[in-house]
Amino acid sequence: MSVGALFDEAAGGYDGARRRLVPGLDALYAALLEGLPFGEDEPVRVLDLGAGTGLLSAVIAGRFPRAKVTLVDLSVEMLRVARRRFAHEPGRFEFRVMDFARKDLPAGYDLVASALSIHHLTDGDKRETFEKVHGSLVEGGHFVNMDQVLGGTPQEEARYEEWWLRRVREAGASEEDLAAAFRRMRADKNATLADQLRWLKDAGFEGVRCRHEDHRFAVYGGRKKAEY
Ligand SMILES: C[S@@+](CC[C@H](N)C(=O)[O-])C[C@H]1O[C@@H](n2cnc3c(N)ncnc32)[C@H](O)[C@@H]1O
Repeated sequence: MSVGALFDEAAGGYDGARRRLVPGLDALYAALLEGLPFGEDEPVRVLDLGAGTGLLSAVIAGRFPRAKVTLVDLSVEMLRVARRRFAHEPGRFEFRVMDFARKDLPAGYDLVASALSIHHLTDGDKRETFEKVHGSLVEGGHFVNMDQVLGGTPQEEARYEEWWLRRVREAGASEEDLAAAFRRMRADKNATLADQLRWLKDAGFEGVRCRHEDHRFAVYGGRKKAEY
């Protein structure tokens, strides 16, 4: 089943299960916001890649009330939920059904953000996407990715897997939640954090760093150089 079809199928129950399936979600969002160098009143132009039902867009839009956000996703059904979420603020959110690994990205953004999406791409597509993200940012613009990563060794990967399963069970994930998550996880193509930080540098980013790491999940990114 394609990634788009998997998430079309998941869209209805997605938001309810998110918190149970991503241990430490609040800390991840907090780290992501903390790393953004914009003033709260700035009209930040944001591109959210793999925006899904709009959870990350909502977090960013909440912190920056004058931000305008473009939400990109290949799942029509996930974006349908996002359209409903933001229906009370017409004009502030734009929705594009598109495969960001295959199409050119729109340009002119101060911030490109992504959550839990880029790990669905092959490593080659991840590298290409990082290059396209660099191209879609204005000079001095920022990229931040909050995503799943692969353990650096088979032992570390096994620890991540054991940790995740223990934490989601503690959080009360139902057998139904877990079955749906395992089904989607078959489409995962996680890469190590070290590889991705290197690919960001290769794509031209500066100030590349990881801001938060908790077993399977990390928040990392970089800045597009500003020419003076
Ligand atoms: C796990 S969900 C994350 C959604 C949202 N960012 C969040 O944090 O809740 C992954 C999303 O990425 C989307 N996605 C995966 N690969 C994509 C691609 N190549 N182009 C566009 N969307 C993609 C899926 O359709 C899905 O909605």
